Amino acid sequence: MKSRRVAVIGFGAIAGELVESLLAASEPEYRVAVWLRKGSASRDRVPSGVAVVESAAELAAFTPDLVVEAAGHGAVREQVPDALVLGLPVLVSSIGALHDDALKERLVEAAKSHGGRLLLASGALGALDYVRAVRPARELELTYESRKPPAAWAKELEALGHDPQAIAAPVTLFEGTARQAAADYPQNLNVAAALALAGPGFEATRVSVVCDPEAKGNTHVVRVRSEFGTMQMTIANRPSPTNPKSSWIVGRSLLAAIDQHFSPVVML
Ligand SMILES: NC(=O)c1ccc[n+]([C@@H]2O[C@H](COP(=O)([O-])OP(=O)(O)OC[C@H]3O[C@@H](n4cnc5c(N)ncnc54)[C@H](O)[C@@H]3O)[C@@H](O)[C@H]2O)c1
Repeated sequence: MKSRRVAVIGFGAIAGELVESLLAASEPEYRVAVWLRKGSASRDRVPSGVAVVESAAELAAFTPDLVVEAAGHGAVREQVPDALVLGLPVLVSSIGALHDDALKERLVEAAKSHGGRLLLASGALGALDYVRAVRPARELELTYESRKPPAAWAKELEALGHDPQAIAAPVTLFEGTARQAAADYPQNLNVAAALALAGPGFEATRVSVVCDPEAKGNTHVVRVRSEFGTMQMTIANRPSPTNPKSSWIVGRSLLAAIDQHFSPVVML
């Protein structure tokens, strides 16, 4: 069976877990490249057998079947447009970057003009199929609450004058629109952006962000109400062993999305 060629942008917690899973897969095998910034300290950690590319030209020479972004909002601005201009499908995990309408338009235009495809990962969340289905509802209300332990919010708590070690009661860090949430918390609120894009948009999707010392993992609560009915979903994700801001499941979710991309049978 022909091997699948996948280029992963970044080599942090999620990308590292994903690359490890791709290398372990067989039938079919994956040929993997990582796209790093020039001089990246991650280069020394890249396993042997994985190609390193540092430019769009080097990416093109690798001839990927699929590009996967797992690096952050900066990569969506810097590398994803180049990959789309090469006519490649690009699976984006840092969806929060699309709160910027101008960037979103640029990416869509690049995909349309060059035959690329912008694929948005569901990442740490589920049930986006339901949210997409109720999107046309006349009376759609969607709220999202993120509840994570203090370890996920150390820098943010310090900026507000809190000692992360001494948090004894829940602290609400943010209440507002998904657009503001995605802009203020680029590493944490990709899920809010996914809900906004699947559902009622960045202004109508209401978000609250709570730091909770009692939180059992990275907890996402989604509530949807419309003339079609109601939906409530709670997901309690274990944090990634290497980055407490990210959920461990995200690497697996990207792996499942990659498998769907190549599969003759697709679950939508
Ligand atoms: N959709 C979701 O549910 C979801 C969940 C968690 C994280 N994410 C996204 O995934 C990103 C990565 O998460 P992580 O836990 O692996 O973070 P991480 O900090 O462990 O790793 C990010 C890595 O990417 C590298 N990087 C940054 N910009 C880059 C660029 N332009 N090109 C190449 N490499 C670059 C960094 O040097 C770092 O090594 C997050 O920033 C977030 O946007 C999405």
